[in-house]
Amino acid sequence: MTQLLSLSVNDLITAAPSASCDADLARGPWDFDLAPGYGPGASELDVIPEPVTRPGQLPTVYQRMSDDELHARIRTAKEKLGSDLVILGHFYQRDEVVQYADFVGDSFQLANAALTRPEANTIVFCGVHFMAETADILARPDQHVILPNLAAGCSMADMADEDSVEAAWEDLMELYADEAGPDGLGADGLASVIPVTYMNSSAALKAFCGRHGGIVCTSSNAATVLEWAFARGKRVLFFPDQHLGRNTAKAMGVPLEQMPMWNPRKPLGGNTETELQDAKVILWHGFCSVHKRFNVAQIEQARAQYPGCKVIVHPECPMPVVDAADAAGSTDAIRKFVAAAQPGDVIAIGTEVNLVNRLARENPDKTIFCLDPVICPCSTMYRIHPGYLAWTLDGLVEGEIRNQIVVADDVAVHAKVALERMLAALPR
Ligand code: 13P
Ligand code: SF4
Repeated sequence: MTQLLSLSVNDLITAAPSASCDADLARGPWDFDLAPGYGPGASELDVIPEPVTRPGQLPTVYQRMSDDELHARIRTAKEKLGSDLVILGHFYQRDEVVQYADFVGDSFQLANAALTRPEANTIVFCGVHFMAETADILARPDQHVILPNLAAGCSMADMADEDSVEAAWEDLMELYADEAGPDGLGADGLASVIPVTYMNSSAALKAFCGRHGGIVCTSSNAATVLEWAFARGKRVLFFPDQHLGRNTAKAMGVPLEQMPMWNPRKPLGGNTETELQDAKVILWHGFCSVHKRFNVAQIEQARAQYPGCKVIVHPECPMPVVDAADAAGSTDAIRKFVAAAQPGDVIAIGTEVNLVNRLARENPDKTIFCLDPVICPCSTMYRIHPGYLAWTLDGLVEGEIRNQIVVADDVAVHAKVALERMLAALPR
């Protein structure tokens, strides 16, 4: 166990390829940058949308560099760039990258983190595309945001596209037309439906929420955001993650019968008019393929093996898993749960394996393991490899901004409204 804990996820996959969901994960991601789909380890249910921005490939010279050379380059560039640069790293990033992050956190914390470094003119976001877009929206106009590998998307975010959400909205507006007066509100002062998008969505959908009286949430503030929405509307259209929406609304007392699912490929999302009239939360048909891997049998197995162990899972897990666990929370809530546990405690965690293994290493006085025995990192988070970090940082030293993420002004202005509503919505 101790020996295993000293290994990174990449080392573990290399050492025991058959214990991982796809041994190709240990290869350089540049082998897959131009291939269709999300690459090794992605769920077969994940379909990359078309048209898609195809990333440029990492120059061959970087692909061929040894690990030692890549790390030496990153360290040198970081030193040269000093306070002009801030590197943000999501908890799910691989250890080889996390070690260079000035801030490591969940998606909410990272959205705020860049604001605490106003002296930095470049934000390098080691995370996925929607996170870098959010940083660009919240950053000052003269700050630049870089996503080291443009292939680092999020399959869940891609499950809700702007056209499908607009079409659903039109259907709902037509259905609820009789409820609203000329000001768009009913006699009770409430809108018929408020759009709520999970942070894991495109800037275009955040802008959609900004334009339609809606808001953004993350897994750390979803309940507060739903309260905000229910103070303003009779119902919520929640996208893209059905599980976060269902788990959060259920914990707030919303009955399951009042949470119909919206399948964008079916008329009225696959619902009757009455179901949509009676709805409190309309859930988009999206999910995270990493968190979908967790199941109740794994929890039973952990409890059988370690009687008295504690189980905590991310709220992107399906409802039966969240119900069977002792606790559910965002990546930072999971970190805090582990920190608050007693020496000797055994904790089984249902979230991405890079975070779980890091927590295990940082808490040697506790036994910590991933509920899923198969090593399966988030395949898109995993696209950020030290090679891309070295290449983008070298570019900055040479005065070239590589892989910049720029959200168009007409999108950013509305997306910022929805994000700022979230930042101002404090728990009651
Ligand atoms: P957090 O908001 O908990 O950081 O989660 C982001 C994410 O992508 C989880 O899959
Ligand atoms: Fe997206 Fe899931 Fe990866 Fe998070 S873990 S970035 S939701 S695919």
